[in-house]
Amino acid sequence: MAFQKDFLWGSATSSYQIEGAAYEDGRGMTVWEDFCSRPGKIMEGHDGDVACDHYHRYREDIALMAEMGIKAYRFSIAWSRILPQGTGKINEKGMAFYSNLVDELLSYDIVPLVTLFHWDLPYTLYQKGGWQNPESVGWFAEYASAVAKGLGDRVKHFITFNEPQCFIGLGHVTCEHAPGNKMSKRAVLEMAHNVLLAHGTAVQAIRSIVPDAKIGYAPTSTVPVPVSESKEDIEAARNAYFGFGADADNYVWSTSWWSDPVILGHYPEEGLRLFEESLPHIGQDDMKTICQPLDFYGQNIYHGYPVGSDGKGGCIREKRKAGYPRTAIGWAVVPESLYWGPKFLYERYHLPIIITENGLSCHDWVSADQKVHDPARIDFMYRYLWELNRASREGVEVAGYCAWSFMDNFEWAKGYTERFGMVYVDYQTQKRIPKDSAYWYRDLIRSGGALL
Ligand code: NOJ
Repeated sequence: MAFQKDFLWGSATSSYQIEGAAYEDGRGMTVWEDFCSRPGKIMEGHDGDVACDHYHRYREDIALMAEMGIKAYRFSIAWSRILPQGTGKINEKGMAFYSNLVDELLSYDIVPLVTLFHWDLPYTLYQKGGWQNPESVGWFAEYASAVAKGLGDRVKHFITFNEPQCFIGLGHVTCEHAPGNKMSKRAVLEMAHNVLLAHGTAVQAIRSIVPDAKIGYAPTSTVPVPVSESKEDIEAARNAYFGFGADADNYVWSTSWWSDPVILGHYPEEGLRLFEESLPHIGQDDMKTICQPLDFYGQNIYHGYPVGSDGKGGCIREKRKAGYPRTAIGWAVVPESLYWGPKFLYERYHLPIIITENGLSCHDWVSADQKVHDPARIDFMYRYLWELNRASREGVEVAGYCAWSFMDNFEWAKGYTERFGMVYVDYQTQKRIPKDSAYWYRDLIRSGGALL
């Protein structure tokens, strides 16, 4: 057992994916309502209008978390519930919802981990240019301040952005996600720069209001896993993780492009060289603004890919073995990604790590015995957590783990067709059924990780 005593055994969700009540109590429209209304964008035409109806059922959901012994709950705030137009007048009903949610969590001693932005950009702001508008930096700081003022007396953990790679990359390059607006490489890099500035400015704003806040950031990555533990293969995997693989098109998925500025205070040299033609204007003090001291580094990790040395100091992406295991959504099962990812990140950034998301979708259904048996999820979580524990045993500071997800929910372009939860949701009746994995996770938490 190597996890620290106050390890945050957590679970995660996000506002648009679970809340529903999209048109209630003054919530403003977001880019996701617009995107879902476009034919063919979301599987089977699903949308998040009702989702898991968590807005009305949060008490029941939190009671279930408490039964599972969950110590930390990572959720996101819908910007447009707090500021329906993105800026301006605060919607007290929206704030009250989150305030009550926080009180409910605290009544069970569950630590609230608040994510400020998990992709549901207020539509009015999108109409004003969204992240491409340099004013977005100020909009986000205003919103962050509102949240800090409204909840900061009780919430101490804040995460600025969830997976910036995705809302920029999937939203503006592949266009699989909202707002689904294809942009040039230069425009995308400009948006990324504004997001980084918004991150730094929000950190400053939160700190000025909540001096004892613990603030982090939650990008994502697919982890290059060395094919052997030889020095050369490890070095090749490390280089692949932070490098660009000579891929001038890898301008949204890179780990270093999104994290070096935030933690090291500069863009990676290799990226600057590769994207030379399309770089945004970088103001003199921008890097100082972007690089604010953080308390933890959040990282979402789901999978990895094998990488080996080419024998000449370079790296080769190796082929996966035929018949390799995959989850329902089709992602490779690579438990070692939860060892190598945190290890490489800790070596480079020296911040305590919280795995802000990890999990899998399975083809779960209610069995004849009325239970939901998900042995694959238990096996997956066991193996991944075992690897994370190994990293921790070897000295990587791992402060927490949030299973994605607490319950089944709206999986973006896949609608409700993918089930990531430890709790099954019947979308017709909104009945919750804890799956076998929920009981397994409860027992693991009770054991303090000793079951690994
Ligand atoms: C990452 C995202 O943050 C979350 O919203 C999504 O549901 C999961 N990955 C699974 O795809």
